[in-house]
Amino acid sequence: MTTCSLSFPPQIHLAKLPTPVQPLRRLSEKYGVELYVKRDDLTGIALSGNKIRKLEFVLADALAQKADTIITCGGAQSNHCRATAIAAAMLGLNCRLLLRTPDPANPPPLEGNILLDRMAGADIVWVTPDEYKQRDELMAREAASLQASGRKAYTIPKGASNALGALGYIRAMEELVNDITNTLGGGNRPCTIINAAGSGGTSAGLILGAKIFDVNARIAAVNVRDDRAYFVQAIGDICEQAIADYHLDVHFNRQRDVEIIDGYVGLGYALSQTEELELICEVARTEGVFLDPVYTGKAFFGMIQELKRDPKCFGEQIIFLHTGGLFGLFPKASQISPLLEIR
Ligand SMILES: Cc1ncc(COP(=O)(O)O)c(C=O)c1O
Repeated sequence: MTTCSLSFPPQIHLAKLPTPVQPLRRLSEKYGVELYVKRDDLTGIALSGNKIRKLEFVLADALAQKADTIITCGGAQSNHCRATAIAAAMLGLNCRLLLRTPDPANPPPLEGNILLDRMAGADIVWVTPDEYKQRDELMAREAASLQASGRKAYTIPKGASNALGALGYIRAMEELVNDITNTLGGGNRPCTIINAAGSGGTSAGLILGAKIFDVNARIAAVNVRDDRAYFVQAIGDICEQAIADYHLDVHFNRQRDVEIIDGYVGLGYALSQTEELELICEVARTEGVFLDPVYTGKAFFGMIQELKRDPKCFGEQIIFLHTGGLFGLFPKASQISPLLEIR
């Protein structure tokens, strides 16, 4: 592994870094592999999860452009939107969120991330799934109407998954280099870093970071929506854009370098199967780590199914990147509660 200095655009500091790496001792024993969690759910409390690392770059750009309002979009319980709303409040900026819901006339209750969005002062514009397909145009329209009233808006794509946001996870790979050296014993044993892919920016940063810092680890993502082809394209596009924009000296080939573990979307995006929720409860009970139902819970479930098939399929050591999402558990309370009662 090498260290290397990068000349990246300015970054503001929002995340509590470095995040710890925690061994999962009981699950390691159960599944016959050394399993660790990189606790990016601990980048903060309300402002927590993977999005903060991306927002450190994206919001620095918004401030440089003298924006007074941030516009972004996501699903109703979007962690990215919640993190953006809170970070905007911390920076004294306004925030407008386009959130997807089946029936905007009857929006979801004020719970989980939505409660925090509103408490952080974000305006919410509810849009239908059909309207959401045109989210970039809708956000541009919102920006234009704010502009017309004398405000300056800055638009962030879903998940802050663009080339600029991906820099946050290139930087995170610097931390993982230290983690592999200090906690995993040096990086000489076969190791895989596994994460959940939702919009692809985290994976893009990890893949590029692993190349830049010459990390001896496989990078693999479990997709929680769409399929392998979608993410090879989405992650491939972000990587190529970042290579071009920031003159990264790496050889990247999307078909070779983007590894997607497909087959674990389950009932669909943000929809939970009992087995997924049972595993989330097991991880909480045995290790004191709370995964979320939309991203990390599905990705962890996918990883465990693969390990059951072949305990050595990811090598001797696994670092599961916990990207946060705790607040998404609360709207699932009624689905989780029967799983606790039968014990
Ligand atoms: C908790 C959590 N984990 C993982 C992801 C996926 O990250 P990315 O969108 O960078 O693929 C997201 C957001 O999409 C998330 O909120």
